[in-house]
Parts: sequence; structure tokens; C-alpha cells
Amino acid sequence: MIMKKITLSGVIIAGILLVSGLSCRAPKNDQTKDMTDRKWWKEAVVYQIYPRSFMDSDGDGIGDLKGIISKLDYIQSLGVNVVWLNPIYSSPNDDNGYDVSDYRNIMKDFGTMADFDAMLKGMHERGIKLVMDLVVNHSSDEHEWFKQSRSSRNSPYRNYYHWWNADKGKPSPRYSLFDVNHDAWMYDSTTNAYYLHYFSRKQPDLNWENPKVRQEVFDIMKFWVDKGIDGFRLDAFQFAAKDTTFPVLPQGYEKEFTKYYAMQPGLHEYLKEMNKEVLSKYDVMSVAEGAGNSFKDAHELVDADRNELNMAYAFEGVDIAKPEGYSVLHFKEVFSKWDSVFAQKGWLSIFLANHDQARLVSRFGNDDPKFREVSSKMLTTFIMTMRGTPYYYNGDELGMTNAGFTDIKDYRDKATLNEYQHQKNIGANMAEFMKQTAFSSRDNGRTPFQWNSNANAGFTIGTPWIKVNNNYKTINEAIQDKDPNSPLNYFRRIVKLRKDNPVLVYGKYTLVDKSNPDVYAYTRELDSRKFLILLNFRSEARTANSGLDLSKAKVLIDNYTEPTTDGKLKPFEAVVYQLE
Ligand code: NOJ
Repeated sequence: MIMKKITLSGVIIAGILLVSGLSCRAPKNDQTKDMTDRKWWKEAVVYQIYPRSFMDSDGDGIGDLKGIISKLDYIQSLGVNVVWLNPIYSSPNDDNGYDVSDYRNIMKDFGTMADFDAMLKGMHERGIKLVMDLVVNHSSDEHEWFKQSRSSRNSPYRNYYHWWNADKGKPSPRYSLFDVNHDAWMYDSTTNAYYLHYFSRKQPDLNWENPKVRQEVFDIMKFWVDKGIDGFRLDAFQFAAKDTTFPVLPQGYEKEFTKYYAMQPGLHEYLKEMNKEVLSKYDVMSVAEGAGNSFKDAHELVDADRNELNMAYAFEGVDIAKPEGYSVLHFKEVFSKWDSVFAQKGWLSIFLANHDQARLVSRFGNDDPKFREVSSKMLTTFIMTMRGTPYYYNGDELGMTNAGFTDIKDYRDKATLNEYQHQKNIGANMAEFMKQTAFSSRDNGRTPFQWNSNANAGFTIGTPWIKVNNNYKTINEAIQDKDPNSPLNYFRRIVKLRKDNPVLVYGKYTLVDKSNPDVYAYTRELDSRKFLILLNFRSEARTANSGLDLSKAKVLIDNYTEPTTDGKLKPFEAVVYQLE
């Protein structure tokens, strides 16, 4: 029996992508009727790059900024217009850059500030905006602030973090996501005190109650915006506010710890202050990871009248996929519910994968060679035709699959490695743990980008920091670029379709054929235009009963070369019709 493992997904991974500086005017009516509320970040297609695994330019086996620069033409060829880059700041890499030791410098593995400037310039020249990860719920324990803070109880930096003097006894338990013992309090003998870390021991939580900490963060944000970046993704920010009296939490709280950690009093004030001090002064976008505990929380984060953030992402959707499969009815219900929350006001982000998840096609589709391409294109169709800003993870445009490592030695993610140790310590069934890990580990989504059939998929001439997926000779960019029907070229077409048709961005969403357990069907409507999207989530043919007249419908895109014309869908078929 494996002890219940509380995963990152759905909790931490829900990010808020904030776009700063948009003097958002709240639409008075349904957004579908108010095109005057157009914003660049609503119309964007965001492509997420995991720099460590994208392209290595110097043969050290680690992706880097020069590697990204060498692929800017490729990124442009996708048609995407925003890149969200995972953290590239100086870091000892306990959590692949989510442990920052210097917010104003570039991680040595990734290059230099000159490389950064060249990369940003190259993106802007190609009409691509850059959104950076802002990791300020915590820093690295190797950040100068923390070194000072831990050095003495009287340090001026002491209150930059959360300390509990051991003279008072042990603090009340707090759950840590990445700690081997899931204990968020780490004892430090230097000052005979415990410090708080919701993530790993090397990621101490910053104390947002301290105005100096807030000012430091705002200055860091200004530093990057002044360099010309276009927005921030606020990592784990929903956890920034804490009850610093650290009361005892009810037994079993760790099973639903977000209820106690997320959106605590003070959070909205911090965001309002950030908006006033930084975001409102620039034309940048902001997105938060995590949308709180309720629709109300989510809405309040992004309600334009509140002057906090532009967008948040919730985890309920991405968490639906399970090793044993998932219910399409549930999938439809969750995404329909979330759409309705933002139908009048506020804005949503749409995603099914990122660096904290296993691969899109392996989790939500079918990565068997027979269905891999078609199911991957079907999922891409979903992401690109929903209301909200799509966030698309690098490699998914090729239909890259889970590596599904079976040996713990192949894993690199601290969360996975520490959890492995934890499960061992409690005597869990390790075979079962490894089976689940092969499906869900974050490392599945972090294997090197598959560029071509050369050694290491063309990612590096050195030894890659994490193994390349064995299937790189059949799944890679070079092969797919030449094939007009590849997932890659399908992605390019559907990105263009979205960009050419504001109805896919702003159009009203309506679920049709609601009770169909296999097909997801919905319409998007704006002014006089109406699109119908049919998605067969099954590996067998299925029929959609949309109740709509398809006799005059025009097929705008279909993931088969011979599209359906009557709603009878082939396995994993996806079709977008224009009805009006
Ligand atoms: C969420 C990030 O997406 C994840 O990769 C990271 O491990 C945690 N936040 C901690 O920063």
C-alpha cells in the first residue's frame, strides 16, 4: 500500500500568469459582446520553454540561452507570440531554478546577461514577447538574504524569512511538498531555530509581511521590466501570505493543505501593492500559478476592477488525468464550469500540461503509436479552441511522450527522488510507487526536446542531464517539419486559425451534446460567427449529436486528411466547423 502521496499538480502547479500594466477596463457585459476589451495577452498563444531541456549550445548537456537563440526561428515558425520561460536566474538547482540565489543574474549553466539581452532582442525582433517566472514565495537557502538571516537572531535580514525559535519548543506541524519527511520546519543549529519551507529545505519561504521583502521583490520586477520583458508568471504565489502565529491545524489538514495555505488574508493586499508599484506602470502581463480554493478566489485574483493580476491558472483541469484513465464527462464538466466563472468578467488560461506534469499525449491522449499523432492533435485542438489564453508546453507540438523511466537512477526531479525516499522510509510498496511515478513524474515532461535523429536527439553533443526519450528517432522536429500532416504542422495551422479568428479567443462558449460520454462538443460564437468544435476522446469511432445542422458547415481544420462531414468521428478525430 502506498501512502497517499500529495502531488504537486493541482496544487502548486496551478500558476498565475500575471500581465502587468494593463489598465484593464472591465467589460460591462459578456465579453463576447465587448470586443473593445481586447488585450494582447488575451489574444496570445503562450509557448512555454523549459530552458534546461530545450537546446544545449555548448555541449555541457544542459540547455541554455544560446540554445534558445539558435531556435528562435523555429519558435517564430510556430506562430506563437509569447514565450514563458522557466526560471533562468542564478540557482544551486535544487529544484531546477525554482530556488533562486540571485534574482538579478543568470544561472551559470544557462549563460550570461549578454546572452539574455540577445535572446530578448531576438524574440522582440520576431514579434514574440517574453514572460519570466517570478519565484518569490521562497528563495534559495543560498541567497544572500537567507545566509544573513540564518547567521544571527539579530540580523537585519532575520525577518525576511519565517523563523521559530526553538526555545519556544517545536512549532505546530506544517506540510512540505518536497521534503523527505514532508516536514516544512527545518531546524538550524546556528541560531537554535526552525525555518519554514513549504517546498524543499533549500527553498525557505520569504516573509511577505515584511515591507522590506515586498520592496525587494518590486525592485527586482522593475529591474527585469526595465530590461524590456513583457510579463511575469508568479510561482506558487497563492501561498505567499501566511498566518505567522502558526496555529495548530486540524488533524489530516495535509490532505487538503491548499485550503490552509492558499489565499490567506493579506494576499490580495500584496497583489494590489505589486500592481500599484510595478504592474500598473508598464504594459506587461501577469499570471499567477494557482487560483485559490474556490471560483470566488480565482475570480477575485483577476477581476480587472480589483487591480491585481491579469490571469491565473487553476489546476482542476490538469489534475483530471489519472493512471487508470478519466471520465470525459468529468473533463467536460470541469472546463465548462471554469469557463462560466469568467464569462462576464476576468480572464482564464487554458492548459493541459507544463513542466510540472507528465506529457500531454501520455496523460490525456493515447501514446500508442497507432493513436499518438491523432490524439495529440485532438488535445491541441481543444487547447486552441477554448476561451482563455492557451499555454502550450514545448515538445507537445511534436506529440512527445512520457519517458516512463523504470529505474529510480534515471530520475532527476527532487520531488520525485525525495518522495521515493519517503515511501521507502514508510515501507510502501515500491513497485507500485515506481509504476505511478512512470506515469506521473515531472521528469516525463522534462526530457530533452527531440530535434532530430542524431545522437541525443540533436539536443546536445555532450551527455544530457536527463536521458533522452528512446523514441527520438521516430518523434522529432526534423521529421515532422517535412510532413504536412505531422502534429507539428497541425499545431502551426491551428495556431494560425486561432489568431485569424477572434471568435476562438473571445467567442461565447456553449457546451452541446452534454451527456455524450465520449465526445466533447461545443460552440464558440461572436457577432455573426459561429464555430462548432467536435472532439472524439476515444480510440473508436463515435458520433456527436450536436443537434446542429451541419449540411452547410465548412470544415476549417480536421486532424484527419479526410474530415468528417456528418458528425461521425473517427478515433480521436477533432474537427472545427464554421457554421455561420
Ligand atoms: C511551482 C513550479 O511550477 C514548480 O516547478 C516548482 O517546483 C514549485 N512551484 C516550487 O517553486
